[in-house]
Amino acid sequence: MTCTSSAPCDTIAKAEDGGALSREEIAALLSLREPSEVERLFQAADRVRKAQVGDEIFLRGIIEFSNHCRNNCLYCGLRRDNRDAQRYRMEDERILGLARDIQARGCTTVVLQSGEDPCYTVERMCGLIRRIKTGTDLAVTLSIGQRPYEDYKAFREAGADRYLLRHETASADLFARLCPGRSLEDRIQCLKWIKELDYETGMGCMVGLPGQTVGDLADDVLLIRGLDADMVGIGPFIPHEHTPLKDCLPGHTTLVLKMLSVIRLVTRDTNIPSTTALGVLDGPGRKKAFEAGANVFMPVFTPQDYAERYEIYPGKGDVEKADGAILDFKGFFDSIGRPIGKGPGGRRRTR
Ligand code: 5AD
Ligand code: SF4
Repeated sequence: MTCTSSAPCDTIAKAEDGGALSREEIAALLSLREPSEVERLFQAADRVRKAQVGDEIFLRGIIEFSNHCRNNCLYCGLRRDNRDAQRYRMEDERILGLARDIQARGCTTVVLQSGEDPCYTVERMCGLIRRIKTGTDLAVTLSIGQRPYEDYKAFREAGADRYLLRHETASADLFARLCPGRSLEDRIQCLKWIKELDYETGMGCMVGLPGQTVGDLADDVLLIRGLDADMVGIGPFIPHEHTPLKDCLPGHTTLVLKMLSVIRLVTRDTNIPSTTALGVLDGPGRKKAFEAGANVFMPVFTPQDYAERYEIYPGKGDVEKADGAILDFKGFFDSIGRPIGKGPGGRRRTR
């Protein structure tokens, strides 16, 4: 596709060359409407993905081991006040068995995910991490929310390699409204500790939150760049009927994909998954993400009876079932010439 010299094309070219984009330039890319320009953005991100992290797609197997949560985020089906949620906690042996399955299925990383559940004390989590590290070759990623510095330190010493903690939104106002009793400042402090402890650090946000502007999304990109995230998870907001946001509109697939592409262009060599939430909103959109900057796939290994109850947003379990998990996608990855990654797939810094 040739580019007539227009402002959006100039900005896409600048981004592809690794030029530092301003907030306005990021907002302009996120606001692209013309389908040919949007496609050009996706293609630029796809080229940067190939040059920076190669063609491999890395698999991270997720275990959702507890859906109890002490928080009350307005958007989430696991929020404390949702009395309709049927809560569960997995035993350590069960989690360990699933981690072994994950290794047997060709994943190189296990992601231990839960709501913020104090029942899994620092000692219990450390024991679990140690057992997984000695019993498998898996990289261990934790996604268990905000904790004190000492906990993050203990998990790291027990062998945890990576930590995912989405910042959710870079707008302090929106964050305060959506996460009662929490502040963006504290969330960022946790991310700084995690970075300082030398975890590979994942952050990310939702797209299409009620009241969120394109300027807010540009701030998300700048925050992600500023904190030098190693992994970035982006997904659409999807309203859940048992939450205060039940009547709000969901995010738009194209905006999520544009955001993903811009983050690839700006962050260069990070690991970026195509998220389940994208699949819920738009099955093809989740595949499209792999041609717009994504290089990670995260199949869920939570057993069906539990997975149904890990309903952060509606439709999540159905997408996971369809993943079957990986089999459906292997054919697709083959068709676009993308091999499954063999090593642990950590960030290979290219800068
Ligand atoms: N729609 C989309 N994503 C959501 N999350 C929580 N609730 C929703 C929702 N309704 C995301 C948040 C959280 C992650 C576990 O799931 O970003 O960090
Ligand atoms: Fe809990 Fe996370 Fe849901 Fe917030 S988003 S209620 S912290 S599980």
